[in-house]
Amino acid sequence: MSAPKDFNDRMLSLGLARVAEQAAIASADYIGRGDEKAADQAAVNAMREQLNKLDIRGTVVIGEGERDEAPMLYIGEEVGAGHGPEVDIALDPLEGTTLTAKDMPNALTVIAMGPRGTMLHAPDVYMDKLAIGPGYPEGVVTLEMSPKERVAALAKAKGCREDEVTVCILERPRHEEMIAEVRATGAAIRLITDGDVAGVMHTADPVTTGIDMYMGSGGAPEGVLAASALKCMGGQIYGRLLFRNDDERKRAEKAGITDLDRVYTRDDMVTDNVIFAATGVTSGSLLPGIKREVGYLTTETILMRSKTGSVRRMVYRNPTR
Ligand code: FBP
Repeated sequence: MSAPKDFNDRMLSLGLARVAEQAAIASADYIGRGDEKAADQAAVNAMREQLNKLDIRGTVVIGEGERDEAPMLYIGEEVGAGHGPEVDIALDPLEGTTLTAKDMPNALTVIAMGPRGTMLHAPDVYMDKLAIGPGYPEGVVTLEMSPKERVAALAKAKGCREDEVTVCILERPRHEEMIAEVRATGAAIRLITDGDVAGVMHTADPVTTGIDMYMGSGGAPEGVLAASALKCMGGQIYGRLLFRNDDERKRAEKAGITDLDRVYTRDDMVTDNVIFAATGVTSGSLLPGIKREVGYLTTETILMRSKTGSVRRMVYRNPTR
């Protein structure tokens, strides 16, 4: 294993929290207004502006899309003030655009940063994901297991009955069989309509969130963000890229991926120290959403460093003038 690369994560983490905060504040006016695109655009603009104030030479590894599809924060875009450490950045300026537009729970702004060359360049395809929180032996559940076997293995490791396990799954037609199989075990399911970064993060704090395990397919870029969060909070995540056509396979090849069937562990997706910040946009079990009062907006941000395992919660009261 190579020695950890120093990228001044201690100081940079505070700047990263500001980036997530400002993206959330920018999206505040769009909560519940039915306009996903406008909400996303506001968050993207703010995130980019704040990133360019940081003393980094950053490259967006997980971003808004390929260069020809996304005008800003596209994959490969150079961000930062142009001096300082070389870093990889994974971001989702608004994770849960529909959740924001409909004022539903768990929309977040999300950003992670690590030394250059330490994050998986995940293409914009689906990823089959499986995650559990800290405190379990490595590999106690695997992607190769059926949903039923995963519930049985986790219940055994947790020392509880199968009907005392709660699984979080994205509500999608493609997950109908998985949902039926999990239900047949007696386990509870928290169905979410969007936002699987938050879904995975919920497993890291089952006492607060009530979620023991996350499973199902969602965006591969979101998988890398979720792996960054779990690297700080503890917990396991496994991901395998899913391809629906040749165009998606080409995207993976373009991103430098040669083994298309590989199962990535958390530490394969994020190979070195990482810092992670997320700000609540709409309220959820992990973070409260943006609060409005006359003259002020208040946000809460979770800021974490994998090097120390530190988790900060930062409340920011910001005059709206
Ligand atoms: P957006 O914020 O881009 O709308 O993505 C939300 C999300 O729910 C992700 O959390 C998840 O990984 C992905 O979409 C799932 O994709 P799909 O809606 O195609 O099932």
